[in-house]
Amino acid sequence: MQPSPAVLLISFLVWADGSSLHYPDPHSSGLPLEKTFGRSVKVSQCQHMLKRLHNGARVTVQMPPSVEGHWVSTSCEVRPGPEFLTRSYRFYPNNTFQAHQFYYEDNHCTKPTHTLVVRGRLRLRQASWIIRGGTEAEYQLHHVQIVCHAAAAVKELTQRLGHGCRGAMKGLWEPDAIYDLWNEESSHDCSRGLNFAMHELQLLRVEKQYLHHNLDHLVEELFLGDIHTEPSQRLYYKPSSYQTALQNAKNHDHGCIACRIIYRSDEFHPPILPPRADLTVGLYGQWVSQRCEVRPEVLFLTRHFVFHDNNHTWEGHYYHYSDPICKHPTFTIYARGRYSRGLHSTRVMGGTDFVFKVNHMRVTPMDVPTTSLLNVFNSDECGVQGSWQVGVEQDVTATDGCMALGIRLPHTEYEVFRMEQDAHGRYLLYNGQRPSDGSSPDRPEKRATSYQTPLVQCSSSSQRHDHGGGGEGDGPASPHRSGAGRSPGAPAAVVTALLLWWHS
Ligand SMILES: *[C@@H]1O[C@H](CO)[C@@H](O)[C@H](O)[C@H]1NC(C)=O
Ligand SMILES: *[C@@H]1O[C@H](CO)[C@@H](O)[C@H](O)[C@H]1NC(C)=O
Repeated sequence: MQPSPAVLLISFLVWADGSSLHYPDPHSSGLPLEKTFGRSVKVSQCQHMLKRLHNGARVTVQMPPSVEGHWVSTSCEVRPGPEFLTRSYRFYPNNTFQAHQFYYEDNHCTKPTHTLVVRGRLRLRQASWIIRGGTEAEYQLHHVQIVCHAAAAVKELTQRLGHGCRGAMKGLWEPDAIYDLWNEESSHDCSRGLNFAMHELQLLRVEKQYLHHNLDHLVEELFLGDIHTEPSQRLYYKPSSYQTALQNAKNHDHGCIACRIIYRSDEFHPPILPPRADLTVGLYGQWVSQRCEVRPEVLFLTRHFVFHDNNHTWEGHYYHYSDPICKHPTFTIYARGRYSRGLHSTRVMGGTDFVFKVNHMRVTPMDVPTTSLLNVFNSDECGVQGSWQVGVEQDVTATDGCMALGIRLPHTEYEVFRMEQDAHGRYLLYNGQRPSDGSSPDRPEKRATSYQTPLVQCSSSSQRHDHGGGGEGDGPASPHRSGAGRSPGAPAAVVTALLLWWHS
């Protein structure tokens, strides 16, 4: 079997990245970035937000990370399944940890079912080979305990734990009492029935950032490894991206009410978050990434989406980078197509189903290695053979997408979305987590049961900034582009991956 093109690309990028010092920096060498991005005109709020991300200036990454302290979830989290939970993890100076995972029956985390209390030891190893900017670690469990919060939860959990665990359970559990699921001496392992693993501790990253330009207000975030989208694979999966970050309870975002509630909780007093209504998903306007996002398989990217609800079309710009602070662009994809709204999800409480189609695509290689890779590809598989140049966009619709990037057109994806308002009243849009096996959700059964990092609304209008006059050199950042202007001219529309079709 031949390796798939996507795999080739990825290994190429990794290699390229390692040697990136030897390549001219496209920003300083006067390569025609303006050609790519210069069509944009006004410095919209969206561009401004993306530009800030590409500057990476507000975020510092601690290497090696110092994880000591108490870290809490910032909201009700959704894991594949779906499972709704909040987390409260403490890491002690003697390298041990105590992790509380509070589980709920509803998507706003108002009805606790049970809590797992996990104790063990953590040892940081080395900077990750796979995920730049991450640190690998090893953990060892000392014990795993459970507290059920309601009689209904006892019944449901007893069924899930199954026969193997009956002996250990010594009769039916009482609500609000603590029981061992597993400990170092015990012969049984009741945690198996829950697909329980703490593999998230195998990959860590700590980021510090100043919120809202306020130098007094430092927020520290702890990113732990991602959870496989297929629950039965959880026990065997080594993380290759991150979950939603936890915040350091000592200096969290003051607007974070959930942080305070979770911080004060324990296994006998699980956090009950304030009830809220599900927001109706309104797909209109423009949405951008809030951070440099990490995809499994070593991809860093930012996304910018435009939804036209008048005719149910969408446009996506996906900006790919080789580094974890999104400074060094590798390629960008522009895609567009139609979407249709489905019903409320029957699997994921609070979610709404959508179907997305992609029927038009353009690609811009942004560095030498990616350009070379595209030029190596044969014949009619990705634009005009041998014609790729750094910074020059090509329409690949006529070649049915770009095999070199693993993208075939037309393409359909089955999506799940949800919307929320954050602590500052901004709208957040969550779309489905991509399958951890690298496939694409191209059948209804493959629809996600959890979500990616949310996008934030940057404009309620879908009017594109790159229409409306202005020619080359009119780019938003042209006066600032030289020297310190490290961002690729505030990519007019930064968009990556509502839909990334690796291996599709
Ligand atoms: C490590 O420190 C924690 C908190 O101070 C303490 O509860 C725990 O017993 C210690 N563990 C070991 C093995 O020393
Ligand atoms: C859909 O509407 C938007 C905004 O009104 C417009 O720019 C776009 O060309 C339309 N697309 C189609 C396929 O009609």
